[in-house]
Amino acid sequence: MLNPFLLMAVFYLIVAIVAAVDAALTSFTLLPWFVGLPWLRVHFITLGIFTEAAFGVLPAFVAARRGTATPATRWDIWLTLNAGLVVLLAGIPSVNASLIITGGTLVFIAVTLLILQLRGLGAGHSEGNGSLKFYVAGLVYLLVGILVGTGLWVGWNEALRLGIPKEVHIHANSWGFASLVFAGLLVDLLPALTGAPLASRRTLTTIFWAMTLGALGLVLGPWLSGNLYVTVPGLVLHITATVWLLVMLVRALRRHGLFARAGAWHLVVSYTWILLPVLVAPLIILGVPGIPGADIEATAPQALIYGWMLQFLYAVVPYFTARWLLADGQARLGGNWLSLAAVNLGGVLIWASIFLIDARGPLHAAGYVLFGVSLAAAAWETGAIALTALRRAESDVAQPV
Ligand code: HEM
Repeated sequence: MLNPFLLMAVFYLIVAIVAAVDAALTSFTLLPWFVGLPWLRVHFITLGIFTEAAFGVLPAFVAARRGTATPATRWDIWLTLNAGLVVLLAGIPSVNASLIITGGTLVFIAVTLLILQLRGLGAGHSEGNGSLKFYVAGLVYLLVGILVGTGLWVGWNEALRLGIPKEVHIHANSWGFASLVFAGLLVDLLPALTGAPLASRRTLTTIFWAMTLGALGLVLGPWLSGNLYVTVPGLVLHITATVWLLVMLVRALRRHGLFARAGAWHLVVSYTWILLPVLVAPLIILGVPGIPGADIEATAPQALIYGWMLQFLYAVVPYFTARWLLADGQARLGGNWLSLAAVNLGGVLIWASIFLIDARGPLHAAGYVLFGVSLAAAAWETGAIALTALRRAESDVAQPV
């Protein structure tokens, strides 16, 4: 069965190359800067690749955990999500309020329908040390992120009394949605890769609550105009749980010799790029001289999206496409040594561009060239799997004359 969400994820993986190349060309001042392009660059990855892939695999993982067959595609959800995405892709760069509200509402409806579908699939089944709670909580944070994101350029955030709206949006989506869904994916992936669960039920439940409540603090902090009494405990809880999860992940991957391939490295190293801003944040708050707070806030989100989210996806999206498009029971993590070196070196250059002001343009540009190279390497591998699956499906339906 062809999974249309995964096909869209592969499509946006390829589109994202164009956006990375554009960033390189504008930094070398070979192209003029277009309003809205940074938005497209980030959201081709967050909505185009990540959200599409999540919609494609979460129902399948929840059903597999229950021992039932992968459910049929929910075309109503596919249509609502993709219609919303297209409308946003037109509305946000042109700052058109009606299009932004329409697109945001459609994506919001799609996420709500997915939550209901997942709850239906998991109903009546003991969760065990399952991933469903991670997925549902992550998607609820996504709903908050969409609400605030849609309001960012249409001005309804005053009504919600949001102190620092853009930060609320980024935190709800990164620390809430992506962190929790990634954790759930690791819970589901590890038994498939190593034959053993990632951790005991009790440990996973503790990690789940620490991440979920931690994310709440991180969302409420900027909502209350940067209230440190909420943000700091949230950060500590969330990071402690993340590091705990990582330690277990590294042990499991090492025990099974999976570090011989680049995919395991992608999974683990990607977390450097979410931990780095956390280490720098106290220096910004304390106003340490030589730490350009405003520049970090302007640049770090993009480094986070490429270094963490996209790099994690390099490992899992090829796995998903092999498992659900090719029906390959032996699917392995994706990525290769080129994508590993390029995406991480790119992240180093983008961070260096924050501090080395004189060389900022070329460093920024070189960083995006490397992101583009890593994307091309990952898209090549994933595209080849998708193409094989499509060819196979085509030959299956071709009738002999
Ligand atoms: C319906 C869904 C969404 C809408 C309407 C939306 C809207 C927006 C808007 C208007 C901005 C501000 C751009 C600016 O001020 O420059 C933004 C920034 C951002 N969004 Fe979203 N967003 C959505 C989904 C997501 C998701 C799912 C993620 C992550 C998983 C995400 C991550 C980010 C990040 C990291 C930024 C900061 C980009 C930067 O500063 O370079 N967004 N979004």
